[in-house]
Amino acid sequence: MSQSDSSQYTWAGRFSEPMSDLVKRYTASLSFDRRMWRQDIRASLAHAAMLARQGIITTDDLADIERGMTQVVREIEAGGFIWSLDLEDVHLNIEKRLTTLVGDAGKRLHTGRSRNDQVATDIRLYLRDAIDDIAILLDEFQTRLLDLATREAATPLPGLTHLQVAQPITFGHHLLAYFEMSRRDAERFADCRRRTNRLPLGAAALAGTTYPIDRQMVADLLDFDGVCENSLDAVSDRDFAIEFCAASALMMMHLSRLSEELVLWMNPRFGFITLADRFCTGSSIMPQKKNPDVPELARGKTGRVYGDLMALLTLMKGQPLAYNKDNQEDKEPLFDAIDTVTDTLRIFVEMIPGITAQAENMRDALRQGFATATDLADYLTRKGLPFRDAHETVGLAVRRAEKLGVDLAQLSLAELQQFSPLIGDDIFAVLTVEGALAARDHPGGTAPKQVLAAIARARRR
Ligand code: ARG
Repeated sequence: MSQSDSSQYTWAGRFSEPMSDLVKRYTASLSFDRRMWRQDIRASLAHAAMLARQGIITTDDLADIERGMTQVVREIEAGGFIWSLDLEDVHLNIEKRLTTLVGDAGKRLHTGRSRNDQVATDIRLYLRDAIDDIAILLDEFQTRLLDLATREAATPLPGLTHLQVAQPITFGHHLLAYFEMSRRDAERFADCRRRTNRLPLGAAALAGTTYPIDRQMVADLLDFDGVCENSLDAVSDRDFAIEFCAASALMMMHLSRLSEELVLWMNPRFGFITLADRFCTGSSIMPQKKNPDVPELARGKTGRVYGDLMALLTLMKGQPLAYNKDNQEDKEPLFDAIDTVTDTLRIFVEMIPGITAQAENMRDALRQGFATATDLADYLTRKGLPFRDAHETVGLAVRRAEKLGVDLAQLSLAELQQFSPLIGDDIFAVLTVEGALAARDHPGGTAPKQVLAAIARARRR
């Protein structure tokens, strides 16, 4: 189709010269909004059904539109649909094809509607579908975390602060920390979905429409929870997309922390886990290498999602009401965030079962960091020594053990008693890793029994 034919189709009436190819390419969104074709057709069918019910178009028109759209769907699915850049975006492409197929009924579809409320509706439908997919993936990710945490509920691991050995924890407990983060992520997405799920259609270009439309009917047909109250707001704001990117940025931040830990744990200096080979790659030059590329990439992709969020915030900032063409730029960052979050979650769902704990190495690391020093201080405090004094006493004992190159539990009773006469032979139960773990026995604590209880609570939710 020639350029002037195509411009004739929509707004050529007002124009005296055709668009240049450069401007056409610059202003087109077809390459990236094509992916919303299902949502566009679904929304059009709901709009047409409402127009017919309200007597704005005839039932014959509606039947033609429905028949034509069935054909359009068939063509797109079969790959035979001819997308034309001349028609700028997904909306005009589909409407034009419909009109070619069914004639005037196709031209009546746009009655009482504008591309401004049309695109806002399509994006919301698309995002809603994406959030539903993400919710399922988050659920699977959480199940995998819980399965691994169940297996490792009693496996001792050095808990770190400042990346230095702090106190013994269990690997299961550590994994449950990520479960909690993920639970809040899921809540944020669900919350964002609630605000996304409102119908813009009816706002038309910006002011509403002169036809006797029934917005609630369209909302019901499209499973929206209600209609956008204000027509200007409906066509212009993209805060729901920004919220989604913010929730995505937080989720990726959490996954980047887990990724970083996987990378560290895989390093032979730690040797805390092995990761299944299918998530690693080799080096083209160093034959010995096994690199944790998948967690590294997840860590890296966090940056692009932050970028998507910044892009949308900046896009929206300072825009006067109502719709501005700036808003066409909302789609690529939003779709990028959706794709990145979805792919990253899919990867993690598969990767978590590929993690194998190396319990012996975890325990070795625990032996090296005086991880039960706090337990010795707590012991002395229970025997009546003020905690600050106990802290100092244990500091001296640690210095002694360090000098001898042994762990606290390897000092003899006589040696320990030089630091405090309050120490009895019940101290050795306290200084073992198992004793230290079992002692942190309250909800949220690392005792294996509490970890199992936390897992049971999590599974019930
Ligand atoms: N392709 C446009 C977008 O993505 C559709 C809305 C166009 N509206 C307009 N008044 N030019 O935002």
